[in-house]
Amino acid sequence: MIQDKKGLVMNIAIVGAGHIGGNIARQLARAGHTVTVSFARDEQALQALAAQIGGGAATAAEAVAGAEVVVFSVPWGAIPEALEQAGSLDAKIVIDTTNQFGAGPKPSDGQTAAEFNAARMPGARYTKSFNTLTAGFQAAVADRPEPEKAVQWLCGNDAKAKEVVSGLIRDAGYVPVDLGATTDCAVMEAPRRAGAVYGEEYRLADAEAVVQAVQAGQPIPPTPRYG
Ligand SMILES: NC(=O)c1ccc[n+]([C@@H]2O[C@H](COP(=O)([O-])OP(=O)(O)OC[C@H]3O[C@@H](n4cnc5c(N)ncnc54)[C@H](OP(=O)(O)O)[C@@H]3O)[C@@H](O)[C@H]2O)c1
Repeated sequence: MIQDKKGLVMNIAIVGAGHIGGNIARQLARAGHTVTVSFARDEQALQALAAQIGGGAATAAEAVAGAEVVVFSVPWGAIPEALEQAGSLDAKIVIDTTNQFGAGPKPSDGQTAAEFNAARMPGARYTKSFNTLTAGFQAAVADRPEPEKAVQWLCGNDAKAKEVVSGLIRDAGYVPVDLGATTDCAVMEAPRRAGAVYGEEYRLADAEAVVQAVQAGQPIPPTPRYG
């Protein structure tokens, strides 16, 4: 990690550079971070993305080994294969963008997907974020002016990791809002439903009341609507 005028320049591995991972790769490379994309069946497309954003392309194992932060952004059913290819995540800050749709082992009743995935990543400094809004919406609303910035919710059990991830969320053009531990984040998980923030746009002014409600174990306020 080196310091520049803008802050910390980080080495970031993207495992799964599709709709969501590709957005994040582009946004963080543009912000000055060193980004390496990985884990694709279409190697040519991966190389092309790397060239387009001024980053690198590598195997998942190489990308992860050289990274401080790993963005994990693959379809749910591909998680076991991606984890196997990535190798050890020990001491890496992970940003998990996945949602539990489709094939593959699932969380048990009452367990959040974040708890479930954190347990599949032993040693990782696990966080979850960038998962509540569609890739198209995320791309469209990045870099809005301050009061209208879109919230990227995050959760995790490692406060320092969440600080780093919050900085990256800001660098990507959003405003970070911490919902708490992996056990507290059910409202940011799929599916879209009443009483949850998943699938909904939030801005900071409305997000703070959600955090207070979650912390108090209360229902969250009605979903805000923006004109
Ligand atoms: N799309 C959204 O709007 C959205 C929003 C929020 C969260 N999410 C979540 O974020 C995660 C990523 O979603 P996404 O829409 O970005 O997915 P995606 O566009 O399908 O990207 C997945 C990436 O993983 C790579 N990959 C490598 N091996 C794979 C395999 N065996 N099977 C499938 N893909 C493989 C794909 O590259 P190749 O095709 O070259 O293999 C691709 O770059 C998912 O868990 C999803 O639920 C998605």
